[in-house]
Amino acid sequence: MPFVIAVPKEMTEGEKRVATVPEVVMKLTKSGHEVRIEHDAGMSAYYPDNLFSAAGATIAFSRADLLNGANIVLCVQPPTVADVDQIAEGAIIIGFMNPARNPEAVIRMRDRKVTAFALELVPRITRAQSMDALSSQATAAGYSAAILGSAHCPKFLPMLTTAAGTIRPATVLILGAGVAGLMAIATAKRLGAVVEAYDVRRAAGEQVRSLGAKFLELEINAEGQGGYARELTPEEKVQEQQMVSEAVARADIVITTAAIPGRRAPLLITKETVAMMRPGAVIVDLAAESGGNCELTRPGKTVQEHGITILGPQNLPAQVPFHSSQMFAKNLQSFLSLLFDKDGAPVREFSDEILAASLLVYAGEVRHGPTRDLLSGVKS
Ligand SMILES: NC(=O)c1ccc[n+]([C@@H]2O[C@H](COP(=O)([O-])OP(=O)(O)OC[C@H]3O[C@@H](n4cnc5c(N)ncnc54)[C@H](O)[C@@H]3O)[C@@H](O)[C@H]2O)c1
Repeated sequence: MPFVIAVPKEMTEGEKRVATVPEVVMKLTKSGHEVRIEHDAGMSAYYPDNLFSAAGATIAFSRADLLNGANIVLCVQPPTVADVDQIAEGAIIIGFMNPARNPEAVIRMRDRKVTAFALELVPRITRAQSMDALSSQATAAGYSAAILGSAHCPKFLPMLTTAAGTIRPATVLILGAGVAGLMAIATAKRLGAVVEAYDVRRAAGEQVRSLGAKFLELEINAEGQGGYARELTPEEKVQEQQMVSEAVARADIVITTAAIPGRRAPLLITKETVAMMRPGAVIVDLAAESGGNCELTRPGKTVQEHGITILGPQNLPAQVPFHSSQMFAKNLQSFLSLLFDKDGAPVREFSDEILAASLLVYAGEVRHGPTRDLLSGVKS
């Protein structure tokens, strides 16, 4: 049975991404689905309407025309309550849902019996790699962070031997070597910097070294559940901050990406450490939205302290919207394939491991335990 797949224009401030791209639309329409895209939905990512039309999509000139009769809605940012009100009962919405920050929309999806899949809940197993939007967007964020840091740095990054003298390469320090951190390392290396990196998971050391960067070692190994880091003990935090502050003081650019799922980002750079840095040095704090890895970070702002520039960017993937949208759209295309069997018929139940784990709301029930617990304290 062909589906009507709708893609709204993202309305969140600063959001330039779009949930599908013409290449993916072409595949979906070839499989017999009808794809509708809201007028100018891809404009900020440089995918104009005419490319979507050529790929077989219908352009909808109002949100109501787009959503009326749609079976599947694809989005980057979570829907608003007003959007949910226009989605038919039983329809499926797929995208980042950020349930902790959007409890009202989750409640409305539950009450209107909309089915919601949250991409941030896709398990990080090998079979789900092609659907892992957290990873694809972290890749875009890590790349952008290195470019942003170098753009604010008053120095060249590579070593240069010129008639006007020899320039020493800049030193870039990456704190947190997960997906974003590894991409920041690779990008800074390509720009010619000397790169050092640190992570509390010792397993990250091999990946850091394979990119040609130096891995800073501590006695701590804080590998927690599912390959994520655990929170450090108070003694470990003191040990870590001391080592980190020495490395920060010798860096020209520091990119911080340290995160612990469901918790405030760990504080790695105190204001005293910032005061030890060289004038002109730059900090790009990717953890700004979850509390910041640097004490002086202001989310969404650029601040100057002691001649140090501290950037707290929000939504870095939106800085490279063409490719971050392309990767996101491919993640969704893979995810959608789970909703149909080999004959193209919709699956009757969401028992597949990936679907079951990412199912946030279904048949009037919040299926994700932590979100259900959270909502028990929210008035509906
Ligand atoms: N499909 C897969 O198999 C798959 C896909 C993506 C990621 N992963 C793995 O998942 C894990 C988490 O990746 P992520 O990028 O989402 O992580 P994340 O965004 O949760 O955290 C970023 C990094 O911060 C580090 N960190 C946390 N506390 C720290 C501290 N106090 N000091 C320094 N660093 C600290 C973490 O170890 C992590 O590497 C990694 O092991 C990654 O390789 C697996």
